[in-house]
Amino acid sequence: MTKSLDEIISERKSIRKFKQSLIDKQIVESIIESARLAPSAVNFQPWKFYICQSEEAKQVVRESYPREWFNAAPLYIIVCGNHEQSWKRPCDGKDHLDIDIAIAVEHMVLKITELELGTCWVCNFNPQIIKDRLKLSENMEPVVLLPVGYPENSEPDPRNKKRKSLEEITTWI
Ligand SMILES: Cc1cc2nc3c(=O)[nH]c(=O)nc-3n(C[C@H](O)[C@H](O)[C@H](O)COP(=O)(O)O)c2cc1C
Repeated sequence: MTKSLDEIISERKSIRKFKQSLIDKQIVESIIESARLAPSAVNFQPWKFYICQSEEAKQVVRESYPREWFNAAPLYIIVCGNHEQSWKRPCDGKDHLDIDIAIAVEHMVLKITELELGTCWVCNFNPQIIKDRLKLSENMEPVVLLPVGYPENSEPDPRNKKRKSLEEITTWI
């Protein structure tokens, strides 16, 4: 049965414990497809997705974010943004790369949740390690890492999401 968007949004949570089972290529492609369809400023699509499945590539990603839980993921997606391709707002030059990348990433995160896989946004990594080892061009910035795998613990999360209230974050004007 297909899940509603509301269900997917409320089911999504950061997963930091993975089973070792590999993920079918078609499933990985359906995740990337959800990013491919994301909106971007002026439709410039300034992104590139590196799917790390070889031990060599995984090693590089793990070195950039050395955490025990992160090492256990069976697959990683490195989401890169190309500063040569991103839209810069004419009035002040603001680079919209991070916004475009964030939308594409959250599309993938929601798709991953729908597929009953798990992931966690990771930005606290060392991008230089990835740039150097994967020989990325100067304009190509690794922005987000997504470890992807089947969640080890599929029990419902007992923790209530700690979130600000609607009143706190909204002003009707
Ligand atoms: C932009 C961004 C960067 C993040 N970077 C990291 C990270 O480097 N490491 C990590 O363990 N979690 C990271 N997270 C996950 C957040 O800690 C998590 O989303 C937040 O605590 C809310 O929990 P939830 O995702 O389970 O709802 C990041 C999330 C976002 C949106």
